[in-house]
Amino acid sequence: VKAVVCDRYGSPDVLRVEDVEKPELENDRVLVRVRAAAINPADWYGFAGPLVLRPMTGLRKPKQRLLGVDLAGTVEAVGKDVTELKPGDDVFGGRSGALAEYVCTAMVVPKPANLSFEEAAGVGVAGLTALQGLRDKAHLEAGQRVLINGASGGVGTFAVQIAKAFGAEVTAVCSTGKVDLAGSLGADRVIDYTREDFTRSRERYDVLFDVAGNRTWSECLRVLEPDGTFVMVGAPKGGPLGPLGPLARKRLASWLRGSQKAVFYIAKFNKPDLHILRELLESGKVTPVVDRTFELSEAADAFRYLGEGHASGKIVVRIS
Ligand SMILES: NC(=O)c1ccc[n+]([C@@H]2O[C@H](COP(=O)([O-])OP(=O)(O)OC[C@H]3O[C@@H](n4cnc5c(N)ncnc54)[C@H](OP(=O)(O)O)[C@@H]3O)[C@@H](O)[C@H]2O)c1
Repeated sequence: VKAVVCDRYGSPDVLRVEDVEKPELENDRVLVRVRAAAINPADWYGFAGPLVLRPMTGLRKPKQRLLGVDLAGTVEAVGKDVTELKPGDDVFGGRSGALAEYVCTAMVVPKPANLSFEEAAGVGVAGLTALQGLRDKAHLEAGQRVLINGASGGVGTFAVQIAKAFGAEVTAVCSTGKVDLAGSLGADRVIDYTREDFTRSRERYDVLFDVAGNRTWSECLRVLEPDGTFVMVGAPKGGPLGPLGPLARKRLASWLRGSQKAVFYIAKFNKPDLHILRELLESGKVTPVVDRTFELSEAADAFRYLGEGHASGKIVVRIS
């Protein structure tokens, strides 16, 4: 079956589409024919291999040849222990190696009928990151004020909608061309970062949900309530330490200088949260934003586009 593979570290030029073994069905999993897969910055680190991550990703070359996590597709066969899905069911969720025609996974739930495969493929990592960060790290409550820095990309577009679904008052920060998008997702206020510096605003926020990670801790502190929570979601990917350098600097500064709480987390794939996202999607409270769709043969182009760092929502690769 066809899959995107990487055998050495480098730019998206190292990516190839090759024939690989079809995965074998396991008892507690389902075999999914993948229709669409979405890409994430974390997939980028799999082939770019920042030095600090190489003990995990492989010292000389990537340990994991196959790329991708997020997917949507159709169940072709179910393991003998699986009770909640059957062949023919359309599903979404994730599995490492999702940029392939088939995956064997336990981490999928029924696809909302109101979503296309391309839309559903974009939900996994970004939707879970937004949900878990706002619910479990920020403990966001109705009526609280949240600022989302980096509101127009994969995570940000889910974060704006989920924060609104929680009843929060949402300020979205994005570039000029994305102001209308952020407003259409429900943001109460949109700050165009090319015209206004949110850290110089008089507003104060209960939660600063920092997806872009491009501002210092002391800048962010200026707009955080004294008992506010700063959620570190992402950071610029440059430098030998990848995103870990800026994240570690901010974490250290928060320990040394602030009374406000700063938290970092890595989102975790789990089925209960995929079901919560499914309900939000079915109710129309959350709608995935798909920026561009590429064919499998264009996977390297999809990553080049992701690398520009200015997607409007999710970048999706159509598999079949
Ligand atoms: N902690 C976790 O578990 C977790 C999970 C997923 C992702 N992440 C991290 O979160 C970050 C974003 O991921 P993503 O999937 O949302 O990426 P993405 O889809 O590429 O979106 C990046 C966004 O950053 C925005 N941006 C760029 N420069 C900005 C600036 N100066 N000010 C404000 N926004 C700016 C862009 O908006 P404009 O085009 O408007 O500039 C774009 O929408 C990455 O660092 C990623 O590694 C963390």
